[in-house]
Parts: sequence; structure tokens; C-alpha cells
Amino acid sequence: MKRVRAEVLSVRRLGAYHVLTIVAPEVAERARPGQFLSVAMPPHRAFLLRRHFSIHQASRRGGWAGTLEFAVEAQGPGTRWLAEVKPHRFLDVIGPLGKPFAYPARLTNCLLVCEGHGGAPISFLAQELRARGKRVDMLIGGATHDHVFKPIEAKRMAQTIRIATADGSMGEPGSVADLLPEMVEAVGAQVVYAAGPREMLRRVAELCVERRIPSQVALEERMACGMGQCFTCVVPVIRKDGSGYDHLRACTEGPVFNPARILWDRWMGEAPEPAPTPPEGFPVVRSWPG
Ligand SMILES: Cc1cc2nc3c(=O)[nH]c(=O)nc-3n(C[C@H](O)[C@H](O)[C@H](O)COP(=O)(O)OP(=O)(O)OC[C@H]3O[C@@H](n4cnc5c(N)ncnc54)[C@H](O)[C@@H]3O)c2cc1C
Ligand code: FES
Repeated sequence: MKRVRAEVLSVRRLGAYHVLTIVAPEVAERARPGQFLSVAMPPHRAFLLRRHFSIHQASRRGGWAGTLEFAVEAQGPGTRWLAEVKPHRFLDVIGPLGKPFAYPARLTNCLLVCEGHGGAPISFLAQELRARGKRVDMLIGGATHDHVFKPIEAKRMAQTIRIATADGSMGEPGSVADLLPEMVEAVGAQVVYAAGPREMLRRVAELCVERRIPSQVALEERMACGMGQCFTCVVPVIRKDGSGYDHLRACTEGPVFNPARILWDRWMGEAPEPAPTPPEGFPVVRSWPG
């Protein structure tokens, strides 16, 4: 992981997104799909924390060697500021962070599923899987046609592709999760990868568990430090031996997880945390004095 002063080469508008290309050779060299960048905001009280973005592209060879791309969906003050950044400005960037997607050693048929800006890491993954001789099929979507991430590039990379939008303005109406059971059968999916909103990822997880298909999902959880120090980003994950669950940090032990081991109800706030039991002899303050 490196901290660099990265020059912005370009900012391109692509539907609902702004794609920033930055010069960061030390980061680009190590970057893999599923990993993310931590970008500092301008010095101002409202911008205390860095913002985090999936790596969309890392060029190691050719004319663009040493450059990285990430896609910004302007949703709040930080993302709006980044969407307005001008070329030749320098950004304070840390990366690559987190665990990447693992590539299948033997299996060949990979189904890639994404909605919204989840398309940014998934399109990087599609490229890397193709380079390893895997078959790639894709299910992509978003709220509207503007939110479908790079559909033309996806058509070029995938053997087959289906698109779904919530308002039906591109492809079929609904969520990509509605098309998943049919698509899994049609393409003979042996591995499923997904990124996007939690509800969609949960449905991907349920189907893959039911059909016993190995899968990996890239999660987004609110992050403060982005480097394993603060535990704001924890996700409840069942232990490998099934003896209970641990709170794993999405920034260091993720953001890519096996969705079959995530406690989705608990993570999505549908099962309240039980009050922790203090250890024997621990002095419990029952009410604050005064
Ligand atoms: C590993 C990771 C990868 C990400 N990749 C991308 C990406 O490729 N493109 C992109 O546009 N955004 C991505 N995000 C989300 C992005 O970091 C947040 O949208 C951003 O921090 C919001 O900052 P803000 O100041 O604009 O808005 P805020 O005012 O901080 O938030 C705006 C809205 O976004 C929600 N939000 C804030 N942070 C997160 C978060 N971490 N996860 C989910 N929702 C959040 C808030 O609840 C609010 O509704 C990613 C987040 C993580 C953790
Ligand atoms: S964001 Fe601080 S530990 Fe993950």
C-alpha cells in the first residue's frame, strides 16, 4: 500500500458517473480488481474523513502505463467535490487497499453481476478474467439507463449480457437479481462475482447458497480510517468452523467476502445486536453519577 500525490489526468462524464484518471504508477502496479483507493478531501471541517472508491482500471503497460481510474457517483459533499475536480490538480491517494477478488484456478464459466457503481470493480474484474482465458457472462443494471455502468464495454467483454433497470429505461424492468436464476442456468455459471447494493448482493448470496455455486461479493460499508485501525467498517461473518461469528473489517479483511458466510440480517440492521455480556468481575457502571 502506498500514499501518493497523484495528478488528475482527466475527468470524463459517463451517465450518472464521473470517471477520474490519475497518475499513480506505484499503486497501479499492485492494484487488483476488488481493491479500493482512499482519497483525501480538501482541508475543511466538513471533510474530515477520506472517501473510498473501488479501483476501476489499472494500466501497467502501453501509453497509459502507471495510471489508475475510479468512478464517482456524486451523492454527497465529498463525491460532488471530486466530480468537479479539474485536470492537473493533485490528489492525496492511498492504495491499493483491501483484499481483491480471487480468480478461479480450474473453473471457467464466470458470471459477473453488478448494479450502479458496482460496475466499476466488476468491469476491471471482467477484463482480468478474460485475460486468464475464462468465459465471462454479465448481468448489469442500475436505477435508470444513466446508472448502467459502461454497457457497451460490457457487451464487448462478455459472451452474453443481460441488462435490468429499476425504471425499465434500459433492458428489462427490475433488478439484476430477478434475472439471476435464469442467467445462471443459461450460461452454466460455475462461479458468481457481484458488486452493488446490499439487497441485490443478499439475493445473489441466497441463490448461490441454494445452488451450491461458489461466489464472492465486494461490499461497501462506511469507512473512517480505511486501514484497519478504527473498526467502523465491521461486517458479521460466520467462522469457517461454524462455531459463531466474528466482526471482520471490510477495509482489511474485505471488501471482498464469501457471501455464504455473511450474516445478512444482522449486517443490514434487521437483527439488533444483543447487549454484550461483561466479563466476570468487570466493574459495570449502571448509571452515570450526577
Ligand atoms: C470499499 C468501497 C468502495 C466504494 N466504491 C465506490 C465507487 O466506486 N464509486 C462511488 O461513487 N462510491 C463508492 N463508494 C462509496 C463512497 O465511498 C461514498 O459514496 C462516499 O464516501 C460518500 O461521500 P460523500 O461525502 O459524497 O457523501 P456522504 O454525505 O458521506 O454520503 C452520501 C450518501 O452515501 C452514503 N454512504 C457514505 N459512505 C458510504 C459507504 N462507504 N458505503 C455505502 N454508502 C455510503 C451515505 O449514507 C449517504 O446516503 C465506495 C465505498 C467503499 C467503502
Ligand atoms: S475503516 Fe477503520 S477499520 Fe475499517
